[in-house]
Parts: sequence; structure tokens; C-alpha cells
Amino acid sequence: MAIDLAGRRVLVTGASLGIGRETALAFAAAHCRVVLTYREHRTEAEEAARRCLGLGAAQAEAVQLDQSDERSVVALADFVRDRFGGLDVLVNNAGVISWQPFREQTPTDLDEQVGVNLLGVMKVTWHLLPLLTDAVVVVGSTASLHSSHTPPPYVATKWGVRGFVKALAVEYPGLRIVAVHPTVTATRMNDMRGMAPERVARVIVRVAAGEIDVESGGDVDLRDHGDASAD
Ligand SMILES: NC(=O)c1ccc[n+]([C@@H]2O[C@H](COP(=O)([O-])OP(=O)(O)OC[C@H]3O[C@@H](n4cnc5c(N)ncnc54)[C@H](OP(=O)(O)O)[C@@H]3O)[C@@H](O)[C@H]2O)c1
Repeated sequence: MAIDLAGRRVLVTGASLGIGRETALAFAAAHCRVVLTYREHRTEAEEAARRCLGLGAAQAEAVQLDQSDERSVVALADFVRDRFGGLDVLVNNAGVISWQPFREQTPTDLDEQVGVNLLGVMKVTWHLLPLLTDAVVVVGSTASLHSSHTPPPYVATKWGVRGFVKALAVEYPGLRIVAVHPTVTATRMNDMRGMAPERVARVIVRVAAGEIDVESGGDVDLRDHGDASAD
């Protein structure tokens, strides 16, 4: 049965492409009001916002965000307060990776991955928490559930956000705070190989709707959920 979250205000970071875009579209189809952030792909984000309106969102707005820049995060929080009057669901999805082996990465590569995937997630959450009524979903990675061949800096950020989710859930028992962990997904980040990003999006919306049984602070492993035949 289709999920209806009519009128809920949802923000998805990194919604110009990939998993974030499909997640924004899926919330729109559930009749949410959606904020889509992009960093560089403004045209794509604006097109996604138009598609959200076509799918049934009462409001869909694209806004620029570089979550490694605190001023940009503050501007986002101001935008959400002014245009949406608050927020029900925050989806911390934006992320970056360097696929080079550890010693072939530069200090700048390390800064960028930690700055976006870990510090950026914490700063976005810090600034939006006072506006939030219901749930935070953080898009992690199955690379934080077991050892993997994924380069160490990215893996470290994903273990980091997983710990952040667990500890934040203890501090905020009134909110639902959950990490959703995709495995290889067909987006730009993974050379368009892997499972369909729509599958991840469906699981995120089901978590937000309370359809997946997970305690606050917990993990949802994509390998346990979704319809593989849809890939
Ligand atoms: N794809 C996979 O196999 C896979 C597997 C496990 C987990 N994940 C996780 O899933 C999430 C989404 O990844 P994806 O595969 O959909 O990647 P993607 O297609 O490369 O999209 C990444 C999104 O993040 C945004 N972004 C990048 N840097 C940013 C910054 N500094 N501030 C704000 N936004 C920024 C991008 O915006 P612009 O393009 O507009 O600049 C884009 O919208 C990430 O957290 C990733 O780690 C992906």
C-alpha cells in the first residue's frame, strides 16, 4: 500500500542526484513538503523539485548547501525556518568518497571526506535539531557494519556517523534517530553500478513512516530490506 505522510516537512541533503534525489521523490509521492539540497548540481536539483511537485508534494524547494561550510549550514537552517516553519524529518544523505588507497589520498581528500560525511552531518543536525519534531535518518554504509575493501577514510566517516546516531538517540529520546546502510548502489559515487537508488529511497521512507521495526539509535541494513527484484 502506498505510504501517505501528508504535509510532513522533510529535508534531504544531497538531493540533486543519486540516492538523495530518489529519496526526495519518494517523500513527494507520499505527499510530503520537501527541501532538496544540492552543492553543484543546481539544474538537476531544480528539476527534481519540479518532479516532486508533479508527484504530489504541496511544496518542494531546492536550496544550495555545502555542509563543509558552517555559514552554508546556518543559511539552510534559516531557509527551513522561514519557508517551512520547522521540520519533521531530516535525511542526512549527502556524502563524498575518494576511491584511492589510503596513502594515495591527500590531506585535502581526508579533510573533505571527514568534513562532509562526519562533521557536515553533525553540523547539519546541530543547526536543524531545534526545528525538528520527529526523525533523523542518516545514510551510512554497510562498510560500517563489517570489514570491507572500501578505502579507510570513507569507512572511518561511516563508522563515525553510526556512533553519532547511537549516542544522539540516547540524548534525544523524543526523536527517532536511525542509520540506514546501503550496500553498492548505482549512483555517480559508484560508477552507476549496483542496486537501484530507488530501493534505498523506499527503505528510508518506510523508516520515516515507522513501517520498519528499528529502535532509535539502530541500524537498517539494506541487504535485509527492499525488493531486490526492483533493481
Ligand atoms: N552509491 C553507493 O554505492 C553507496 C553505498 C553506501 C552508502 N552510500 C551513501 O549514500 C549517500 C548518497 O550517495 P550517492 O551514492 O547518492 O552519491 P552521489 O550520487 O555522488 O550524490 C551525492 C550527493 O551529495 C551532495 N554533496 C556532495 N558534497 C556535498 C557537500 N559538501 N555539501 C552538501 N552536499 C554535498 C551532491 O551534491 P552535488 O552533486 O549537487 O554537488 C549529491 O547531491 C552518501 O552518504 C553515500 O556515502 C552510497
